[in-house]
Amino acid sequence: GDNVMYLAHRYDIELEGACEASLACSTCHVYVDDAFTNKLDEPKEEEEDMLDQAPALRPNSRLGCQII
Ligand code: FES
Repeated sequence: GDNVMYLAHRYDIELEGACEASLACSTCHVYVDDAFTNKLDEPKEEEEDMLDQAPALRPNSRLGCQII
């Protein structure tokens, strides 16, 4: 699907995605700009759990592969 991680790859933006969007890593960690926060669905619990493993977590942290 066209999640943010795949879009980044398509446009040569550097973003890992070690588990191919299966919510088993946090290498697709991104920060969401304030302008888009309201446009996104809330992260599901599995995403929150993986995010807790991510370094440099911020309030606007998400997993890129879960943003669609
Ligand atoms: Fe692993 Fe997103 S690519 S959780």
